[in-house]
Amino acid sequence: MEVVIVPDARAGGELIAEAMAQLLRRKPDALLGVATGSTPLPVYQALAAKVAAGTVDTARTRVAQLDEYVGLPADHPESYRSVLAREVLAPLGIAKAAFLGPDGSAEDVRAACTGYDAALAAAGGVDLQLLGIGTDGHIGFNEPCSSLASRTRIKTLTEQTREDNARFFGGDVDQVPYHVITQGIGTILEARHLVLLATGEGKADAVAATVEGPLAAVCPASALQLHPHATVVVDEPAAAKLKLAGYFRHAYAHKPDWQGL
Ligand code: PGA
Repeated sequence: MEVVIVPDARAGGELIAEAMAQLLRRKPDALLGVATGSTPLPVYQALAAKVAAGTVDTARTRVAQLDEYVGLPADHPESYRSVLAREVLAPLGIAKAAFLGPDGSAEDVRAACTGYDAALAAAGGVDLQLLGIGTDGHIGFNEPCSSLASRTRIKTLTEQTREDNARFFGGDVDQVPYHVITQGIGTILEARHLVLLATGEGKADAVAATVEGPLAAVCPASALQLHPHATVVVDEPAAAKLKLAGYFRHAYAHKPDWQGL
């Protein structure tokens, strides 16, 4: 995988937004896989600025959701469908009709999961999947020891993740659902390009395990080691525990321009 160390979250957002913009210029109807959480916001802000400036056109862009809470009504402000409508679709000028996501309020959760995998395949697959990383190394909501071959399915959140996410529910962990639907690790690995963004010192251990640790289900993000085109963008604090940081900086500084991200 390629590791790019950037000075701060804003630079990471700009770098990834530019990669998305280049993809959309090449393939205007690309399917962008998007993530929720605090980390991806600088990416969406930088991409929205490009749309506003007219340097990228999202008229035909399609968007796919990574994960969703189970049991929250779709119109709950913290359902990821609502969050993405607010943070991605509106600022990028993308219609709800161009959005694919699993139904977290479905009565038949299993059918919602298999149906979502089928919908992603029918849409031609995800072109670029943006990922955050949990402090426990999760991608999507694939918590530690998720099968590296998993498909979209229901998962139970760790208490750590529920506590991490309580800030979106007024600080009340009791409001955070126990269950989620998440694209499986096997599903995520089918995207053509994986781009993981990690910022802040709280992610340093998870980043080191992802990049330099063994491929192991205990760190779900380490599955990126299996992908032929995975890019890990980290700010300085998140890069603090990488032993090979010097090499990653050297490789990026000497990267041929034509390669892109
Ligand atoms: P965060 O979440 O960006 O809010 O830290 C990341 C994640 O849980 O994947």
